[in-house]
Amino acid sequence: MPAYAILGAQWGDEGKGKIVDFLSEKADVVARFAGGNNAGHTVINDQGHFSLHQVPSGIFWPQTLSVMGSGVVVDPPSLLDEISSLKNRGIDVEGRLLISERAHLIMPYHIELDQLSESAKGDNAIGTTGRGIGPAYADKASRNGLRVSELLDLDALKPRLKETLEHANALITKVYSGKPMELETVFNKCKEWSLLLSPYIGAAEDILHERLEGNQIIVLEGAQGALLDLDHGTYPFVTSSNPTIGGASVGLGLHPSQIAGVIGVFKAYCTRVGGGPFPTELTGKTGDRIRDLAQEFGTTTGRPRRVGWFDSVMANYSSKINGYSSVVLTRLDVLDGFDSIKVCVGYEFDGKRINRLPGGQGVLQHCEPIFEEYSGWDKPTAGATSFAELPKQAVDYVMRLESLIGCPIDVISTGPKRQEAITRRSIL
Ligand code: GDP
Ligand code: IMO
Ligand code: MG
Repeated sequence: MPAYAILGAQWGDEGKGKIVDFLSEKADVVARFAGGNNAGHTVINDQGHFSLHQVPSGIFWPQTLSVMGSGVVVDPPSLLDEISSLKNRGIDVEGRLLISERAHLIMPYHIELDQLSESAKGDNAIGTTGRGIGPAYADKASRNGLRVSELLDLDALKPRLKETLEHANALITKVYSGKPMELETVFNKCKEWSLLLSPYIGAAEDILHERLEGNQIIVLEGAQGALLDLDHGTYPFVTSSNPTIGGASVGLGLHPSQIAGVIGVFKAYCTRVGGGPFPTELTGKTGDRIRDLAQEFGTTTGRPRRVGWFDSVMANYSSKINGYSSVVLTRLDVLDGFDSIKVCVGYEFDGKRINRLPGGQGVLQHCEPIFEEYSGWDKPTAGATSFAELPKQAVDYVMRLESLIGCPIDVISTGPKRQEAITRRSIL
């Protein structure tokens, strides 16, 4: 009964979409367990170039069932758009997408509250995606949330919506001086979503267990990344869910013993979108060069991503809390042509060296990176499909990262397309 989790190991956008698509050839199910349409997963394969936000990236393999688990927050209008755009491009979704009845809904007032709260924070804004993620998870935690199953019983939904909307409107008007939302307007949207989404709603957790009992292969698709984790990331500059391995278990109702492998996806350098500490950030020409070369702009919001050297202190913490059994290194090709490449191997804080990730962001934001420097390579790695093709300096770089992360790098991705990858050891 093997389930394999594929997790973002840094601050998101590591290339999870590409890797889930690449590794899912033998998968029977691909299941998202956390986050919502804050995610943007790019897949480039024979069927085209796709940006997925809620639908799992396994949808392109015809044998797979795509599941959105209880830990996901669902934004119905954007999910419906995503479904129709996939259908228009010839991807069969009917009968192949299952949304957990236990997943929570992102409501229009969550989106409004996310945006109002961000503008009220001014310079201290988190830099959220503005998709209502934080307020939706906050309502879930405070027992004011609405679940997907409630779309199946509109008569029971209406009084619940009335109550939650009164609460949301009080925040919108009294805290943020915004405009209240009308019950009928929001309820009419729910009616429309109920009609269009009903065929996809079901007992996702039971079905996952049946599939595992039938010895099928399940890929658990992470969104965001370890350092955006609500508990373990660079709080408060994090998302509102747990993109780490515990979140995979909770967000799909699987027990840890059912997860046979934990695959951490790392970029060969680092990026982050939004605010928060980033010790290895490159603010000058080198950063601009990487951003331009790699087109580091958000898949969801189009914002330029902040760019920095690989941070092995962060990588180590990410590895510690997730227990990776395999690492996938992406975007090695982006570093082609650099004279030298740096890797952070420790921090200096207050004149002292520290080798662990500090929990307090007051400390972290004053940490200076201690770098090791390696010579770059002049032969390209782009598009390589065998380890033997890599120039010696690229091999040395990969081997150094492997020892710093403390886990074998089993796959190296050398380009955005499905086939642009080197498999050193088979993962699934
Ligand atoms: P995700 O959120 O982790 O799925 O990552 P995104 O899709 O948001 O961002 C990763 C970007 O890197 C996308 O534009 C991918 O097409 C691209 N990508 C993935 N792997 C590679 C790689 O090995 N090399 C290059 N050059 N691009 C890659
Ligand atoms: P994928 O799955 C990169 C970041 C936002 C912001 C913080 C909180 O594509 O890797 P939120 O809207 O979640 O409340 O924003 O988290 N963030 C991401 N950054 N990739 C993502 O997803 C992200 N999802 C959220 O930029 O800093
Ligand atoms: Mg992304």
